[in-house]
Amino acid sequence: MKVITTPEEMQAISQQNKFEGKKIAVVPTMGFLHNGHLTLVKKAKEVADIVITTLFVNPKQFAPNEDFERYPRDFERDKKLLTESGCDYLFSPDISSIYPIDFATSISIGGVTKVFEGESRPTHFDGVALVVLKLFNITLADIGLFGQKDYQQTLVIKKLVKDLNLNIKLLITPTVREANGLAMSSRNRYLTDEEKNKASIIFLSLEEAKNAIAHGERRRKMINSVVISTLRSVPEIKIDYVATVKSENLELADEFLPGEEVVILIACFMNQTRLIDNTIIKIPTAFTENFIE
Ligand code: PAF
Repeated sequence: MKVITTPEEMQAISQQNKFEGKKIAVVPTMGFLHNGHLTLVKKAKEVADIVITTLFVNPKQFAPNEDFERYPRDFERDKKLLTESGCDYLFSPDISSIYPIDFATSISIGGVTKVFEGESRPTHFDGVALVVLKLFNITLADIGLFGQKDYQQTLVIKKLVKDLNLNIKLLITPTVREANGLAMSSRNRYLTDEEKNKASIIFLSLEEAKNAIAHGERRRKMINSVVISTLRSVPEIKIDYVATVKSENLELADEFLPGEEVVILIACFMNQTRLIDNTIIKIPTAFTENFIE
């Protein structure tokens, strides 16, 4: 695997690969990789000729009070994991090459950026959209891969691709979980083992909600209360939001209809650490139908 640090060199390499008729898949990350990221790299290898993983902790998606400075970083470990997983290029630019001193462009995406994560972190998704667009342009991506764990982010990136006519296919892969159900996240690094165990209640609360739906619950408020009451069984958890919405556009409905696909979104704090998770559920047309995640 080659490590590339400048946008110019990365773009030149991608241009050459394109010239040779190769398809490029890009896995954007902020590093401190876990199995969720490596699953994306594996998938990328299946669908493209060349896999580029980008590693850039993007300052523009962190608010001043957030964890940009202390976001976990371990370049050598990431490099080793990516080499072992067969990634072709690791693009790891420094901040000044992505945002030079005279950088003056911003992106603002409406709609899905304004609710839930967007309410709690108002500048977050504009920062994500900006860097993802830059990374797509630098790598000349044909395919971009993202994890379902950041569900709202996947909708924002779909909107970016659609609204700006980017010729890029997006692949979203299911959330990868620890044995206890906790969604893998670089931020799990902030948790003690005991906190990790307790945080598995987040997954459990989603399972409880699935169960309620399987038993016929269709009312949004009731589905949310199942999640909230399960989360409340762990006093260290402080809920930011719990929302059951239509998966396509995050719209609310009082009651969901058979065949409709909903997503249950959770953001909460385990002590100081903010965690998010979600599950996608198809409302059964009969009680016997199965779910998808
Ligand atoms: O999901 C992430 O790790 C980041 O938001 C992303 C997509 C790499 C953009 O910085």
